Amino acid sequence: MVRDPLHDGHGRRISDLRVSVTDRCNFRCQYCMPAEGLPWLERAEVLSFEEIERLVTLLAQMGVEELRLTGGEPLVRRDFPALAARLKRVPGLREVSVTTNGFLLERDAEALVAAGVDRFNVSVDSLQRDRFYEQTRRDALERVLAGLEHLATFPEAHPIKINAVAIRGFTEDEVLPFARFAREHPYEVRFIEYMPLDGDRSWKADQVLTGAEIRAAIHAVYPLEPAARDPHATARVHRFADGQGRIGFINPVSEPFCGDCNRIRLTADGRLRTCLFSLHETDLRAVMRAGATDDELERTIRSAVWAKELKHHVNDPGFVQPKRTMSAIGG
Ligand code: 5AD
Ligand code: SF4
Repeated sequence: MVRDPLHDGHGRRISDLRVSVTDRCNFRCQYCMPAEGLPWLERAEVLSFEEIERLVTLLAQMGVEELRLTGGEPLVRRDFPALAARLKRVPGLREVSVTTNGFLLERDAEALVAAGVDRFNVSVDSLQRDRFYEQTRRDALERVLAGLEHLATFPEAHPIKINAVAIRGFTEDEVLPFARFAREHPYEVRFIEYMPLDGDRSWKADQVLTGAEIRAAIHAVYPLEPAARDPHATARVHRFADGQGRIGFINPVSEPFCGDCNRIRLTADGRLRTCLFSLHETDLRAVMRAGATDDELERTIRSAVWAKELKHHVNDPGFVQPKRTMSAIGG
């Protein structure tokens, strides 16, 4: 079935959906969760596979073509590869991708590739064991790199992307090692500016290490040239002038890309969020569990999406950080 395309009130067509399949995580990254974790959702609060599939199917009928599965850490959800396989069969989806911290990739890469997952983003914030531990509060660098290597043995999993959150006072020392890593491995390394979605609510504007600063630091040693860019791509990608490798910059704070934003998000407990920084969300789980038909759900979704925020206000005085942290929203 085909429904009318999904638009917001600012003329943007929504074609990208991110679904958080669990709020739980086996890491405690400083920029995402407090050390003690968060009060996890009860099992009954989390959408079932059937509920996720129903919403994804309906949204695909409204023109969503790209689906990204996130968490928390998606691989900690029981039978996650089976969910990915189910969603991969939803008519209309062009691409299903997964964002993971890599800890369970040795166990699950094969099943996820067999499920048809098209793309993988693996988060790695440092290539040094002690600093990786400092940032994620888990001594897991070796295991994550082993997971990444295992994933790379599957040709279908490429191109593989690595996400590193860029924080002033931490990431400067990682920049050149990551540049060399991107030159020596078949992974595109992408630096993401630190956003105010941390569990400790300690984000400060001066902690954002900007993409422009990192690009200049790399360019001084390994000259970069811009690569072609897709219209909705959030990353500005550069390649090394003298050979192999790509580096991307996602600059939501210093160069907001809200005008091109074609995304919406579904939390693990079934709330629709129209912006990472939304202060308001729409409870689709309650509507579904009250017995709504697909047409009724469609109306609820359309009116929520119509009110999608024009832009974020991270750089404005009076910015209010949303209650949810990144782990409870989905990256
Ligand atoms: N700012 C920027 N990126 C973040 N991520 C998690 N928290 C933040 C934050 N506060 C990233 C993770 C992961 C993706 C899901 O989001 O590193 O790559
Ligand atoms: Fe877990 Fe990802 Fe948050 Fe780190 S950033 S605590 S890996 S959800």
